[in-house]
Amino acid sequence: METVLVLEDDKPLRDVLCRVLETAGFFILESSSAEEALPLIETKQIDCILADFKLGGMSGIELLRRVRLSKPHIPCVIMTAFGSIDVAVEAMKSGANDFISKPFEPAGLAPMIREVLKHKRIVDRDALDRGKKPRGFLTVSPSCEKILDQARHVAHVDSSVLIQGESGTGKEVLARYLHEHSERHAEPFVAVNCAAIPPDLLESEFFGHEAGAFTGATQSRIGVLELASKGTVFLDEVGDMPPHLQVKLLRALQEHEIRRVGGTKQIKVMPRVIAATNRNVEEAIETGQMRDDFYYRVAVVTFTLPPLRDRRDDIMPLVNRSLAHFSMLLGKGDVKLDPLAQEMLESYSWPGNIRELENVIERAVLMCDGEVRPEHLGIFVRLDLDTLEEAIRTLPEIASQAVRKAEVQAIERALRMTGGNKSKAADFLGISYKTLLNKVKEYALSAPEESGASEP
Ligand SMILES: Nc1ncnc2c1ncn2[C@@H]1O[C@H](COP(=O)(O)OP(=O)(O)OP(=O)(O)O)[C@@H](O)[C@H]1O
Ligand SMILES: [Mg+2]
Repeated sequence: METVLVLEDDKPLRDVLCRVLETAGFFILESSSAEEALPLIETKQIDCILADFKLGGMSGIELLRRVRLSKPHIPCVIMTAFGSIDVAVEAMKSGANDFISKPFEPAGLAPMIREVLKHKRIVDRDALDRGKKPRGFLTVSPSCEKILDQARHVAHVDSSVLIQGESGTGKEVLARYLHEHSERHAEPFVAVNCAAIPPDLLESEFFGHEAGAFTGATQSRIGVLELASKGTVFLDEVGDMPPHLQVKLLRALQEHEIRRVGGTKQIKVMPRVIAATNRNVEEAIETGQMRDDFYYRVAVVTFTLPPLRDRRDDIMPLVNRSLAHFSMLLGKGDVKLDPLAQEMLESYSWPGNIRELENVIERAVLMCDGEVRPEHLGIFVRLDLDTLEEAIRTLPEIASQAVRKAEVQAIERALRMTGGNKSKAADFLGISYKTLLNKVKEYALSAPEESGASEP
């Protein structure tokens, strides 16, 4: 059961809110002032905060700012007086996930809280996120240093930027870097994951809506373009945005004007747009998934982040930073890295790039006891047979090494020929399926479709 903290100084109203939410199946904690609520937020497991803007002492927004520093991930909804759009914008800038204007229909409250709980994973409206991951774009590789150099130049103009790159290469980190180096750095950075928002909500997500615009729209709501009007809107996974929305967004960006869904007023918006995708953009344009007019609008400047395997110099600095970070976070003291483990990390192909590296190190730090060894890494690196060969001198060693090498080559060829089908490959090699599996494991081989994972 999810817990909602209701913070409202008007007792009769608080009672109504609590009753409504309780009936809808939430567990309720209540409080009449921010001062009283803060210790609760620090000590209890809370999934959502519903706070009045105007409280006796500290305001709801001041409370929100404090919560954002110590518990950045708890979604907050601020209640404002009717028509006070300034307060609503202020609330959203301070990291509120949504706002609700009084008076409101109590029946709309529970669906809204549910949407916010679901929503926090979709839209990161939080410019003050001091989450658990370290921030900053770390690199020592010349190719990425050049990108950062260009990014600092581009940051100052308002041109749209498209960032391409495989999953986990740091597209979002680069987007935030651009924002932080721009004149807009004190304004919101609003990230929207275009792939995660249900299609029927996308339009209202971008343009906002007025109360009554559609079923379920009990309150009016600011869209991300309005919210990021002075800041940056980050269109993550832009390759997954439905074409009809690309048309609408293109028009809004060209005319610098929007209309909320169900609204009549034209509202001026001037956001800076940064988009990212791990898809092949040319292909997306060819298949019609991405409209070319939209593409040209968004990709005034493009950056392509190289995968980690093409910038191996970055591996150890990233490993060391993650080691220090997770040792501290997990209270493990000074964690060492065994030389063989280091060799494996340096020669692994990192198909999941930096995200995978962080996960591998986090798990290793958790499992190890002061020193990270190969068995803590959970990655497979193919033995470099040629290097091993140099260290081998006795005849039996040379013979067994030659057998290993021949076996590896034959198995790899068979797997390639059969498209990675191990059962067919075993037949082809005249060995049992089980023997093949054992050998694949022994030599840390992988099937062709996952061959990226076994490059030296
Ligand atoms: N250059 C870097 N320096 C430090 N950390 C980085 C760097 N690049 C990426 N990271 C870290 O790696 C993880 C993945 O980065 P990010 O979310 O920016 O990748 P992405 O390219 O957006 O991936 P996806 O396409 O899967 O969304 C994050 O935790 C981020 O902090
Ligand atoms: Mg991303």
